[in-house]
Amino acid sequence: MSSFYALVIGASSVIAQAAIKQFEDNQDCLGIFAISRVSPSQDKASKTQWIESDYSEASIQQVCQTLTPYSGAITKVLICNGILHNDSMMPERKLEEISASQLTTVLHANTVIPMLWLSRLLPILQGKHDTQVALFSARIGSISDNKTGGWYSYRASKAALNMLIQTSSVEYARRAKNVKLIAFHPGTTDTPLSKPFQRSVPKDKLFTAEFVATQLLSIMESITMDNKAAYLDWNNQAIEW
Ligand SMILES: NC(=O)c1ccc[n+]([C@@H]2O[C@H](COP(=O)([O-])OP(=O)(O)OC[C@H]3O[C@@H](n4cnc5c(N)ncnc54)[C@H](OP(=O)(O)O)[C@@H]3O)[C@@H](O)[C@H]2O)c1
Repeated sequence: MSSFYALVIGASSVIAQAAIKQFEDNQDCLGIFAISRVSPSQDKASKTQWIESDYSEASIQQVCQTLTPYSGAITKVLICNGILHNDSMMPERKLEEISASQLTTVLHANTVIPMLWLSRLLPILQGKHDTQVALFSARIGSISDNKTGGWYSYRASKAALNMLIQTSSVEYARRAKNVKLIAFHPGTTDTPLSKPFQRSVPKDKLFTAEFVATQLLSIMESITMDNKAAYLDWNNQAIEW
């Protein structure tokens, strides 16, 4: 592997943290840009530079300006943002639970923000080196696999994200042939996002963030660069869109 820079957006995510640790330990990784709404105090010995962003369009544009000197050298990108629940909302189980505010909140965090990044990063990712961008989707975003219903906002936000990834891949294929877009399903992973729903998950199906990060980075390393978007699970198995 030749040397590279990594960009991790939504870097407070437990899976993102595990990936950052693996980039830190990778000798070929020259540095990591970690973007988050909150940044920890910087460790001088680390290769990770934390940059705070509120994910507004202006803030995303400003971060991209900071990254411009690294154009063509950032070849591994993880966009991890996603919410499923918070203190005032849980996934909807029935139609009566639908609210405009939940739909708007979840779609903004899970769909709008990742898409703004994909749009603004184009000039930074264009280049000669093979570059993989993994956007954290979920199997629940598969329209053809929807057998159980429910979880309206989250499901729709990931389905919409998948469509935006597919659509972007058509344009990226013309304008940044060196880039492969991946809609990634990590599997149920032990993080705050899945905490309230872990009871029904068999022990061997509840993954650690370290395992999922290892799987993802290995998939990114070996994936075929064919200018098409891929929708893959943690085991490198294709999911039907
Ligand atoms: N855990 C699972 O079982 C599972 C399964 C399928 C898919 N996923 C997906 O995997 C990704 C990573 O999740 P995780 O499990 O690591 O969860 P997590 O530890 O709860 O991380 C949450 C992530 O979402 C971002 N975020 C939270 N609220 C946000 C908001 N209001 N606006 C914008 N960004 C917000 C955080 O970014 P900051 O750094 O800015 O805080 C962070 O990147 C998500 O996209 C999730 O949908 C997870």
